[in-house]
Amino acid sequence: MSKRRILVTSALPYANGEIHLGHLLEYIQTDIWVRFQKTQGHECHYVCADDAHGTPIMLKADEMGIEPEALIAEVSKRHQSDFSDFNINFSQFHSTHSEENRYFSELIYSRLKDSGFIEKRVISQAFDPEKEMFLPDRFIKGECPKCGADDQYGDNCEACGATYSTTELKNARSVVSGAIPIEKDSEHYFFDLPQFEDQLKEWTNAGHLQDEVSNKLAEWFEQGLQQWDISRDKPYFGFQIPGTEDKYFYVWLDAPIGYMASFKKLCDNSDLEFDDFFAKGSDTELYHFIGKDIVYFHALFWPATLMGSNFRTPNAIFAHGFLSVNGQKMSKSRGTFIQARTYLDSFNPECLRYYYAYKLSAKIDDIDLNLEDFKQRVNSDIVGKVVNIASRSASFVTKKFEKELSSLCIEQDLYDEFVAANSEIAQHYEARNFGHAMRSIMKLADKANQYIDDKKPWQLIKEEGREQEVHEITSLAINLFRVLMTYLKPVLPEMAKQSEVFLNIDSLNWDDVKTPLLSHQINKFKPLMTRIEDEQIEAMVESSKG
Ligand code: 2FM
Ligand code: ZN
Repeated sequence: MSKRRILVTSALPYANGEIHLGHLLEYIQTDIWVRFQKTQGHECHYVCADDAHGTPIMLKADEMGIEPEALIAEVSKRHQSDFSDFNINFSQFHSTHSEENRYFSELIYSRLKDSGFIEKRVISQAFDPEKEMFLPDRFIKGECPKCGADDQYGDNCEACGATYSTTELKNARSVVSGAIPIEKDSEHYFFDLPQFEDQLKEWTNAGHLQDEVSNKLAEWFEQGLQQWDISRDKPYFGFQIPGTEDKYFYVWLDAPIGYMASFKKLCDNSDLEFDDFFAKGSDTELYHFIGKDIVYFHALFWPATLMGSNFRTPNAIFAHGFLSVNGQKMSKSRGTFIQARTYLDSFNPECLRYYYAYKLSAKIDDIDLNLEDFKQRVNSDIVGKVVNIASRSASFVTKKFEKELSSLCIEQDLYDEFVAANSEIAQHYEARNFGHAMRSIMKLADKANQYIDDKKPWQLIKEEGREQEVHEITSLAINLFRVLMTYLKPVLPEMAKQSEVFLNIDSLNWDDVKTPLLSHQINKFKPLMTRIEDEQIEAMVESSKG
């Protein structure tokens, strides 16, 4: 296959909160896919950024008595160290509050406006007369108009599930100041989404989306597309709309543009050409990994924005489901709202990478992180199966054969079977069926262990004249381990690195598995992964409580 040129994104995390295990499902999924593409020799860039604008970030900075710029700078540092400690390997991590993003947001807006896709009209909205600001729905609370439950958000009731408009809420209060909200008029800017209905219908049925997502979109088309309010009034943390005094771009307008901005930043620091990846008609590939909750923004607003401003549209949107922990929504009281950092205090990041890979498919089904299952899966598959192949064979090669692998592959058929599995495993990775890929790899690992069990080198070594056989059996086992680690490298990059040291090779390359290492010097084996213990899980859950 010829070399593909691919640009990949994950959704941008908000700059007012910590990265947690729910976020990581997506970053790990994307990172595995990107690393896999690289193993196939493709050019693959992975960009992301902090989503830095909007009312919650402005208010949080306010509460902390700092400027929003200071808040987002701090959060960005923490996000990036979390990502890096989970081996999420971005080509670029930027911010939506950047000059690049301002440039593209203004450019896109002006193109949309010049083409007649922006409309202005006055709307009436809830306003906090004390704080002198318009209130997004989640900043208003009151009693549910349907069931009377207290302390409900402005647009839906958590007690009875009713949805309503904020004006229906009884005894409404501003969450910001406690004041009674009033209704106030203001002029807003709308993106005229309905003008794109035909183009979008065609696009959403042209293989860019998963079936479940296309079905959801069909429902939305049936309900009719609405114009999209892309402006917010001052005070707001964001980009001022050119030609206005007090209007800002709504955070969701400039957030996906942040993908472009981050890539532009990468281009500025390398020889990549921005237009190769974003100009209309370019033959490179663009993919967005997202959670299913933000499909509307990515499968309707975003392609329409790109169409209307003369940029290319993505090849595909890859949506995933939500994460639950122990079968339930993540919860602070149960200690299952687990931050990235809290996890890292107890565990090797690669355990979670493996577990997520094992659970992930190309579907949008929700994924459960069951902590007991997590422990058993990692202990049995990685420690018990994969690492075991190397650890039980390495000592022979080290102690008896001066760390040199045999000059002959004793069971070529078995080795060839491991090599032949590569295309099926690659297909699973490509299709984002990581769970299938992991199962195929573990089946091979079972075979390798079975082979060692059958040959019993620990017995043979005691028999006269069988030394060479032992050498060949254990060398083959190490070669099989090498093949497996090559297949696992996108998921377990750190363990792969340590395996490279053990095997004394520059790099575990997908194409190199075709030929085994013969008469090759290896290094001393060091434990690659330790078993997960109950106490680690307990410690993590305990420190996540509250
Ligand atoms: O839902 C969220 O967390 C958003 N911050 C995702 C933005 S993705 C992209 F559009 F920028
Ligand atoms: Zn209710």
